[in-house]
Amino acid sequence: MNVLSTPFGSLKLRRWPSTTDRSLRAWDAADELLIKHVHESIDLESLATGRLLICNDAHGALSCALHSFAPTSWSDSLLALTALKRNWKSNNLPGEPKRLESTNLPVGPLDVVLIKVPKTLALLDDQLAQIRPLLHPNSVVVATCMLKYLNNSSFALFEKHIGAVQTSLAVKKSRLLFSTVEQSAATSVPAHPSSQASKYPDRYTDQDLDLSLLNYANVFCRDHVDIGSRLFIENMHMLPQSSDVLDLACGNGILGLCVQRSQPQAKVTFVDESYHAIASARENYASMFSGEDVEAKTSFLIGDGLEDIESLSLDLIVCNPPFHIQHALTADTTLAFIKAASRCLRYDGQLWIVANKNLPYQYTLKRYFKKLNIKAQNRRFAVYCASDPKVGSAD
Ligand SMILES: C[S@@+](CC[C@H](N)C(=O)[O-])C[C@H]1O[C@@H](n2cnc3c(N)ncnc32)[C@H](O)[C@@H]1O
Repeated sequence: MNVLSTPFGSLKLRRWPSTTDRSLRAWDAADELLIKHVHESIDLESLATGRLLICNDAHGALSCALHSFAPTSWSDSLLALTALKRNWKSNNLPGEPKRLESTNLPVGPLDVVLIKVPKTLALLDDQLAQIRPLLHPNSVVVATCMLKYLNNSSFALFEKHIGAVQTSLAVKKSRLLFSTVEQSAATSVPAHPSSQASKYPDRYTDQDLDLSLLNYANVFCRDHVDIGSRLFIENMHMLPQSSDVLDLACGNGILGLCVQRSQPQAKVTFVDESYHAIASARENYASMFSGEDVEAKTSFLIGDGLEDIESLSLDLIVCNPPFHIQHALTADTTLAFIKAASRCLRYDGQLWIVANKNLPYQYTLKRYFKKLNIKAQNRRFAVYCASDPKVGSAD
């Protein structure tokens, strides 16, 4: 736990999920810069409740610091919203934080919008398009970002949706963007805004795999099939026939959908920590398997890996795991997935995982499973099959 000192008071903050990398904190210089700017230049004292929106707060630093102004925290990440809840509670802040999932729209009018520029520009595009009808001519829109993640495309999106952009001086390798609401953009404020302005979700078709997939803005590989996923799908004929299958970290559901297509008898469950991912997987399932008894055949879980999955409940787990959390590269998530997979699989169950060959997963796969085979590979990726989970090793 680290202490963040702000002009509004000090906070003890932890990342969630916790990490073994001690260099990673629950906030960065861009958060600090924004909090300082709010204190010095924005009058939040006279703000009516519900008029402050914070977007993409990674671990709750912004929302906790500004807690007395009743912010709503809007995010696509269950983990980020969980971090906010935990940090709010551990700092004994009053009541509960207001957390809004990315698949729901904020309610306007909004007086102040604070944005941590997200990793995926499509998400920024989507959020700005949805926020714009909720602004009035005097709304204040300020974004913050570490310089290394800021590029011309981010500026262009603010100009496209909100209005002219000015920047602050750089401080500790971070910068603020101020976007002035264009008068023509800020017309009347609809009570129930529609998301028509956003071009997401959109869709791509892959002729070779005979797939047409819908993708909400923050989905991994939103406009094409990932190289690793493709290698996996091309080799799915080797998968064992299974009853209970999990697509772990499902994104738009591509792996689980292909398993379901080749194994109609299987009950396939989809899990991801991104609300956009689960919404995409759900819609893709409905359009690929229309007429099926969807409720009996599948479920869609927003969750942290296998945390909500029962022990010994699965025959097969398919996974193209994440290798970063937001901007930070980490193997921690996948290593936790492998350990939890050995708990959730039945004695003859199998974990199939596709990964870049440079990533250090083999040691952990061997630690929790008695057998490990490479089923397919190309120059960069391998499809691993781990079987015979070691009973009790997940303790
Ligand atoms: C490399 S993408 C794979 C997506 C999809 N399976 C595919 O092959 O295109 C990894 C996915 O992991 C999800 N993710 C990251 N951390 C997670 C966690 N702790 N629990 C569940 N999903 C997670 C991300 O949201 C992302 O959708």
